[in-house]
Amino acid sequence: MDTSDAPASDVPTLYEWAGGYSALLRMTRLFYEKYVPADPLLAPLFAEMAPDHPERVASWLAETFGGPKRYTERYGGYDRMVSQHVGKALTEEQRATWARLIIRSADEAGLPTDPEFKAAFVSYIEWGTRIAVENSTPGATPPMHMPVPRWWWVCDATPGSRVSALATKVGDEAPTQVPGPDEPIDFTHIKALFRRTDRQSMSFAFDLWSHDDVSRHADAIVQRLEAGTMPCDEPWPPERVDVFKRWIAAGKPD
Ligand code: HEM
Repeated sequence: MDTSDAPASDVPTLYEWAGGYSALLRMTRLFYEKYVPADPLLAPLFAEMAPDHPERVASWLAETFGGPKRYTERYGGYDRMVSQHVGKALTEEQRATWARLIIRSADEAGLPTDPEFKAAFVSYIEWGTRIAVENSTPGATPPMHMPVPRWWWVCDATPGSRVSALATKVGDEAPTQVPGPDEPIDFTHIKALFRRTDRQSMSFAFDLWSHDDVSRHADAIVQRLEAGTMPCDEPWPPERVDVFKRWIAAGKPD
């Protein structure tokens, strides 16, 4: 995970979150080299596949998940992909098996299993496999020259968009240096009070690690801290709220 001070609204692509091309290739290799040959419904379909088929499908997925346009640049893009399914008369049983085994391969290859990634990944697999079946139906006329799809997180369920039940609780964290009563307080102390998860939760409104943003919204923040409604998982102890109030009283120094 990114630990930089980059703005919290920088949402990673599914490609980045998956672990890039090498992770996707690990998955497609497992799928085509281990699971497909052992499956009676799928093995005959792929008996003649090119030796670089795992690379080709990994490249398609990389591009679809927001990575480099690898399948378009190396292998022929959308038209090539569609032409490979046309006329194959794939059955629902074959589709469901393909989907089940690629998901198993993803787990085995170590792709992320967090709820957000899994939801996005599985939704693409459901969508993509159903289109493959549709395109493969005898007589089907799939539209040509379309762009390669760009898949995204589902329903704004992006990494960090919710407070995890396993998130670090306020009291469980490494103790934050609370400045003594006579010690001057600056924004370094304030920033240290906000966890990464707090920052992500509020990123739709402002950045809790930005001096400018916190200064501008200081009154609203202090109100919510005092009311115990922020952070939303567990209120701050009063000594922490006091540090924030002392910082405001000192003129919100940087
Ligand atoms: C999200 C779902 C799918 C993706 C991303 C996908 C991707 C691809 C790609 C990129 C190719 C062309 C590779 C090339 O450049 O030669 C291909 C070919 C093919 N796909 Fe799919 N596919 C999907 C679903 C399915 C399903 C459900 C089946 C069958 C159950 C299937 C069967 C095949 C077959 C038989 C080929 C041709 C293999 C060969 O070269 O002999 N695909 N697929």
